[in-house]
Amino acid sequence: MKKKFLSIKKLKNKKPIVCLTAYSNNIAKILDRHCDIILVGDSLGNVLYGMKNTHKVSLDMMIRHAESVMLGVKKSLCVVDLPKNTYNDYINAKKNCREILKKTNCHAIKIENYKNNHQIIKKIVSSGIQVMGHIGYTPQYYSKFKVVGKTKKEETQLINDALKIEKAGAFSIVLECIPKNIAKKITNILKIPTIGIGSSKNCDGQILVTDDLIGISGFKPRFVKRYSNLNKIIEKVTEKYKKDVINKKFPKNSNSY
Ligand code: KIV
Repeated sequence: MKKKFLSIKKLKNKKPIVCLTAYSNNIAKILDRHCDIILVGDSLGNVLYGMKNTHKVSLDMMIRHAESVMLGVKKSLCVVDLPKNTYNDYINAKKNCREILKKTNCHAIKIENYKNNHQIIKKIVSSGIQVMGHIGYTPQYYSKFKVVGKTKKEETQLINDALKIEKAGAFSIVLECIPKNIAKKITNILKIPTIGIGSSKNCDGQILVTDDLIGISGFKPRFVKRYSNLNKIIEKVTEKYKKDVINKKFPKNSNSY
């Protein structure tokens, strides 16, 4: 297991790290052939469950989806988000990390940065759990989207947080919606890999929400590149199916027993 983390860390300055999110086995199976890291993100709250943000995602939801994802993961590193209010103190954080790891067999936990929770990360890492940090726009702690790092004060805070999270023992860190010059500074200062989302190519790797990438979520902010329009495809397929059912063209004898 340690080898998996070492190999991710070693990718820094060698090859860009490829990461995507998955919430289910079928998607994870495909991503696993191409990604270094698969994240079971709490973005599933908005993306799958239609919640207005990630604030009410529960530990149980994360565990169920991570169990499904892990059925499809053979080679990549699977990281699971710790949802909001499940790591307010070290005791709870450790208990909940352990529950996720035990029930899902995933490889690591991601924790969004808030106030001084690098101290919690430090203790969790000391207890043998691998942690990925997350700074910048941390959706659990904002009610509205924001690019973080536009002021000198925010820049200093981001750099300090990144350094504290690295010192706490995180193996990697997500930089979400941070201006490109700051992302560059942080990536150059840290020894651990930075994984960007909306933070430019100046990061050691990139992550996107898969549903945005394939065009099924309907969400397309500036930082998303849509590689297909799956919504359109599903629309067409559904229309065709409907026609076939109405015209008794489906099922055929070959689809029947
Ligand atoms: O929840 C999520 O999917 C994430 C990624 C967007 C980094 O945290």
